[in-house]
Amino acid sequence: MESHEMTRTDELLVAAAKAVRQNAYAPYSGYHVGAALIDENGDVHSGCNVENSAFPEGTCAEANAIGSMVAAGGKRIVAIAAIGGAGEIEACTPCGGCRQCILEFADENTRVILTGEGESIDSYSIDELLPAGFRLR
Ligand code: THU
Repeated sequence: MESHEMTRTDELLVAAAKAVRQNAYAPYSGYHVGAALIDENGDVHSGCNVENSAFPEGTCAEANAIGSMVAAGGKRIVAIAAIGGAGEIEACTPCGGCRQCILEFADENTRVILTGEGESIDSYSIDELLPAGFRLR
């Protein structure tokens, strides 16, 4: 983990994550999440959580942002930020399933950015968040 000042990219991703979080559909948990990533082309893709009456059908913000990247032709996550919270915005540490989804499109330089309102920025590698993650070769 690395704590550091916000870079321009961090600022962009955190702002995009906050913006898309406003559209989160989370009537069951009340926990609204926004995620934004930048891909190898410099394109930004975002997603929010979308819950469902049939609870397991709900999807996470990170997974939806990744789906958007793949649909647009992106192949690699350079950095991804997630913001969550029921009220106050807080850092949203990706769930286990999302860590696996991030791993699929990550390399050793991919940064997972965690920050809340007015907090410092923490950057993690996917290996720190999901050691020995599964890969099918
Ligand atoms: N959630 C995400 O969108 N991303 C995560 O990494 C953790 C959890 C969502 C799923 C559910 O809609 C709500 O947050 C509460 O778990």
